[in-house]
Amino acid sequence: MNRMNRRWVLKNRPVGAITPDVLTLETVPLPELAEGQVLVRNIWLSLDPTNRIWMSDREQYLPPVELGAVMRGGTLGVVEESRDPNFTPGMLVSPGLSGWQDYEVAWGAMCRALPTLPGIHPTAFMSVLGVTGWTAYFGLLDIGQPKPNETVVVSAAAGAVGSIVGQIAKIKGARVIGIAGGPDKCRWLVDELGFDGAIDYRSEDVGAALDRLCPNGIDVNFENVGGPIMDAVMERMNDFSRMPLCGMISTYNAEGEVPGPRFFDRVLMRRIKVQGFIVLDYFPRMEEAVTALAGWLLEGKLKYKVHVEHGLENAPDALGRLFTGNHDGKLLVQIGPEPAG
Ligand SMILES: NC(=O)c1ccc[n+]([C@@H]2O[C@H](COP(=O)([O-])OP(=O)(O)OC[C@H]3O[C@@H](n4cnc5c(N)ncnc54)[C@H](OP(=O)(O)O)[C@@H]3O)[C@@H](O)[C@H]2O)c1
Repeated sequence: MNRMNRRWVLKNRPVGAITPDVLTLETVPLPELAEGQVLVRNIWLSLDPTNRIWMSDREQYLPPVELGAVMRGGTLGVVEESRDPNFTPGMLVSPGLSGWQDYEVAWGAMCRALPTLPGIHPTAFMSVLGVTGWTAYFGLLDIGQPKPNETVVVSAAAGAVGSIVGQIAKIKGARVIGIAGGPDKCRWLVDELGFDGAIDYRSEDVGAALDRLCPNGIDVNFENVGGPIMDAVMERMNDFSRMPLCGMISTYNAEGEVPGPRFFDRVLMRRIKVQGFIVLDYFPRMEEAVTALAGWLLEGKLKYKVHVEHGLENAPDALGRLFTGNHDGKLLVQIGPEPAG
């Protein structure tokens, strides 16, 4: 085999926003397959806010990507060669955290074959039926536990996780208010996803808007952003409310100490249950989430969007969109063509 592999390697740890000197694109020959391995040609690469965390050496839930190593990332691809009897060329598989590269030489045991669902495009498995869908499902239902007529607030509401959180909360009978950047995203939440209200944090006073839209206070805060948006929501949470702490994207580019909540005393006074979680811990229950989410999707109760940028070479620039909001749905890079048929 003398095929070559392009791959993005971490060269420098970012300081602030990701700059061109952080990653470098190199081309190397692919190794021969060992017994039990498969060669996966990556088609879609998932870009996630946590990529920025993995590039840094701050305290985190996985080891940081080492300098000189291939940038870590979730992919979905097609088997091109196999030395594992469970996989044959042409199968669509998730090789796990393959990385930002054209090909992955993966152990078959680490690959997950994709189920085929009529009318469902494979990119659904990189969004609503993939990791971001599972994050929404477990964070909201296991930790948030919304009850009918309770008020759920979700930040980064038009994003991959937030948009699914809000729709699941609606399915469970809650009132849902989303916080998102810009009128188009807010319109989409209310007009197409059925949210009860949306707050454009770029042009509105979030606290005043929450007072107007949540007259009975807030029972569940699904937190994706941190910072002043989190403070405004926490200030209005009810007794015995719940707060799944999913992410704090507003802090990922920051250096030094990350500020805590401004109104931490509310956690005591309002007996708020705050729980940080990482979706990796729920992987043993993945099938439960896929079954529920796929059911709602096929029933037309869940909608989702993917935003596809093209070309592995454009991955670093595309990642920056997550921090400016300049994307419309789950952010993916299409690295190569889909298999014919
Ligand atoms: N705990 C877990 O296991 C887990 C798993 C997946 C994701 N997450 C977290 O979930 C959150 C959402 O991730 P995602 O993959 O669904 O991404 P996403 O929401 O599709 O994209 C990120 C969005 O965050 C918003 N944003 C960025 N910077 C912001 C800022 N300074 N203030 C307010 N909003 C800002 C932008 O939306 P606007 O255009 O609305 O500003 C942007 O579109 C992130 O915090 C991520 O780390 C956690």
